[in-house]
Amino acid sequence: MTETLLEVEGLTRRFGSGRNVVTAVKDVSFTLARGEILAVVGESGSGKSTLARLILRLLPPTAGSIRFAGLGDITRLQGHKLRPFWQHVQAIFQDPFATFNQFFTVRRFLERSLGILDNPPEGREREEAISAALRAVGLEPSDVLMKWPHQLSGGQRQRLMIARALLLRPKLVIADEPTSMLDASLRVTVLNLLADLRREHEVSILFITHDLGQAFYLADRLLVMYRGEVVEHGPIEAVLSAPQHPYTQRLLADVPRLGSGRPKMTSPDRWAPRRVPAGE
Ligand SMILES: Nc1ncnc2c1ncn2[C@@H]1O[C@H](COP(=O)(O)OP(=O)(O)O)[C@@H](O)[C@H]1O
Ligand SMILES: [Mg+2]
Repeated sequence: MTETLLEVEGLTRRFGSGRNVVTAVKDVSFTLARGEILAVVGESGSGKSTLARLILRLLPPTAGSIRFAGLGDITRLQGHKLRPFWQHVQAIFQDPFATFNQFFTVRRFLERSLGILDNPPEGREREEAISAALRAVGLEPSDVLMKWPHQLSGGQRQRLMIARALLLRPKLVIADEPTSMLDASLRVTVLNLLADLRREHEVSILFITHDLGQAFYLADRLLVMYRGEVVEHGPIEAVLSAPQHPYTQRLLADVPRLGSGRPKMTSPDRWAPRRVPAGE
């Protein structure tokens, strides 16, 4: 039996009031197993980021529950009771720059991040853990440790976010369009680092994207959102081989490699398609 890490039920979030109500997320339900990658795909404005922010507790839901293994419904947790949740979850956003305190060097950023752990490593052990995490994502510690966020490239910043995940070993990573500000070659690197994170450390990933191709590349299961609602949900190959909703059919038609049936395994214009199954 695979262990369920996250169980979202009937999640709903409305914004505004009166005639200006927008239901950004409407009655969304899904589960995420340990070590599983679920892609959430949808056009701009379909509610993906709102869903991420609800799960990250950055926003309270209008209705619904978010159960996290061992912690119950996290929408009901407040204050210090949320600490165990923060120990187990990490966000990776589209613009990693926004995540960093611009007055912290890379070293300080990572050291402070370790403060969320109950028994963070110290001294030499801490140095080694930080260096190992940086090297694992292709960053040379002596190059980056003393740098400030603005001295890093977009790709280096996203690598740093993945290094932080390696350091803190969260159970859940929520990645909201993590590659959309990167150029094509870096996109593959970041997707592969996320795949490694899952494969080597059994991290579950909620991978949010507007790009069905990237979802297919990385994820086990797919959830398609349209105007706040889930219109398609299932194992990625099953959904893509028999899309039920007109929106998914249109999405699929926009990705020629996928729309024409099986993806070609030659190198396409944007990135080389390599499916990364859980056990590989
Ligand atoms: N804080 C907010 N106040 C009002 N409306 C919002 C807010 N955040 C998101 N929305 C609206 O909710 C809908 C979904 O937005 P969002 O979750 O950002 O979609 P996506 O990430 O898929 O592009 C949009 O119509 C957006 O305008
Ligand atoms: Mg968004």
